[in-house]
Amino acid sequence: VAVLLAAGLGVSTWVYFAAYQTNAGDLAFENRVRIPPLLEPEVDGDGRKRFDLTLQQGRSEFLPGRQTDTWGVNGAYLGPTIRVSRGDKVAMDVRNELPDTTTVHWHGMRLPAKMDGGPHQTIGAGKTWSPYWTVDQPAASLWYHPHLHGETAKHVYRGVTGMLIVDDDTVPKDLPSEYGVDDIPLVVQDKKFTEDGRLDLDAPGPLGLQSTYGLLGDQILVNGTRDPYLEVGAERVRFRLLNGSNARSFNFGFADDRSFSLIGTDSGLLPKPVRMNRVRLSAGERAEIVADLTPGEEVVLRSFAPKEGGGFPQDRLAGADDEFDLVEIRAKDRLTEAKPLPERLADTPEITPGKDAVERDFELSGTSKINGDTMDMRRIDEVVPAGATEIWTVRNPGNPHSFHIHEVAFRVLDINGEPPPPAMRGRKDTVYLPPSATARLAVQFGPHTDPDTPYMFHCHMLEHEDQGMMGQFTIVEPGTEDQAPRRLPGGN
Ligand code: C2O
Ligand code: CU
Repeated sequence: VAVLLAAGLGVSTWVYFAAYQTNAGDLAFENRVRIPPLLEPEVDGDGRKRFDLTLQQGRSEFLPGRQTDTWGVNGAYLGPTIRVSRGDKVAMDVRNELPDTTTVHWHGMRLPAKMDGGPHQTIGAGKTWSPYWTVDQPAASLWYHPHLHGETAKHVYRGVTGMLIVDDDTVPKDLPSEYGVDDIPLVVQDKKFTEDGRLDLDAPGPLGLQSTYGLLGDQILVNGTRDPYLEVGAERVRFRLLNGSNARSFNFGFADDRSFSLIGTDSGLLPKPVRMNRVRLSAGERAEIVADLTPGEEVVLRSFAPKEGGGFPQDRLAGADDEFDLVEIRAKDRLTEAKPLPERLADTPEITPGKDAVERDFELSGTSKINGDTMDMRRIDEVVPAGATEIWTVRNPGNPHSFHIHEVAFRVLDINGEPPPPAMRGRKDTVYLPPSATARLAVQFGPHTDPDTPYMFHCHMLEHEDQGMMGQFTIVEPGTEDQAPRRLPGGN
C-alpha cells in the first residue's frame, strides 16, 4: 500500500511525495489485448478518402463484472486506427454524439490551421465537422484526440483517442507492416477507477488526487484493455507505442532487459535503427520499436523506474519512479520468419536551422504559464513565416513538462547544452522536458498560411494545458508578419 503525503507548497502548488508505485508481478495477463480496428475509408467523387468518425458515449468492462461509462470513437472506448499515405487527399467526417461540445485534433499532422482540430474548431453536440487536407509528410505514427480548451484532460481521459498512421512509399518493404500481425499499435494509459468502477479524474484515493501533474493512475490500460496479453505469430514485431496518458511518463523496456531497435520517433522514421533497451515517453510522445521473439516465449513489456535508465531527480513527481507491467507478449510456437531489419529506414533530410534562423524563447512556469501568460484564445503569441526553420528555446525552471507544437516537426538540438540522448534525436513534435532543463529545438514550419487561425503550442500534461500552459502561433506569407493580427476578434 502506498504511503503518500500531499503537502501544499503555496496556494496552488501541490507536490507529491509518493511511495514508489508498482503492479509488477501482480497481473495475471488475463485479457487478450484489443487491437483497434483499421478504419476503411470511402473514396468520394473527388478522389478523396473519407473517414467516418462518430464520437459517442458507451460502457466498457475494464474491471471484471463492472461497467464503466466511457467515451469512444465508433465504439465505447478509444477509436479506430486511421491509416493514410503521403499524397492522399483525405477528409474526416467527425460526428459528435457526445453530450458536450468537443474538438478532434490530428496530433502531428501538417495541415491548414482550420483543419487542425484545435480549440477553435469546436464541434457542438449533434454536429458534424468535416476537415479535409492532402497528406504531405513522411511516414509516422500520429494520433488524434479532443482539444477543447479547458476540457481536454476530461475528454481524453474518458476515451476519445486513436492512432493515425501515415505511410509513404519510401518506407523499406522489409519493415514489419502488417497491421495487427507484426505491426501493432499500443496505446498505453494510466487510469484510476473509483470503488464502483467509474473513471473519474477526481477519483478519491491517493493517486486519484490531482497532483502537480494532474492524475496519476494506478491501473494501466493498453488499447483499452486491463491486465492484457498479446499473442503474436511473427519473429520480428513492430510496436507503435503511444503514451496516451494525461500526465504520466513511461519508461518502456522488456522485463528481461532484452534490447530492441528504435526505428521511429513522433514525426517519422530514424535514418537507421538504433539498439537500446529503454525508451522513455512523456504524455503525447510516440516511438516505434522492433522486438525479436523466439517461438513459445513470453516476455512482459514494462515501464521501468527511470533511475535505471538515467532519470532526473524530480522525475518521480511525474510518476516516472513507478514501475508497471504493461502487457505480456506471448510468441506462438511457430513464428513467421522475419527479414533482416533494413539498414536505411528513411532519407528525410535532417532539420537544420540556417545561420540567421529566427530564435524565440519560451519559459514554462508553474502549471499554467508560458512566458508569464496563461492561454488566451484571442491572443496570437507568435507569427511565423511559412516554410521557416526556427530555433525555439524552451526553458523549464521547475518541474517536468511535455512540450508539443502543432503542425511542425522539430529536432532537439540540445538539452542543457548537451546533445540529446539517442531516443530523442529523431524527428519529433513533443518533447519531454526534465526538471530545470533548457531544450533548443530546430522547428520546421509548413506551407499553409492563415493569419487569422492559430495553431497551438503547449504542455501535453493535459491538466497543465487546460490550466492555460498553452500559446498560439499563426503561419503567414513570408514578409507579412508585421501586418498579421495579434488579436482575434471576439470577447475580451
Ligand atoms: Cu496532442 Cu495540442 O495536442
Ligand atoms: Cu506541464
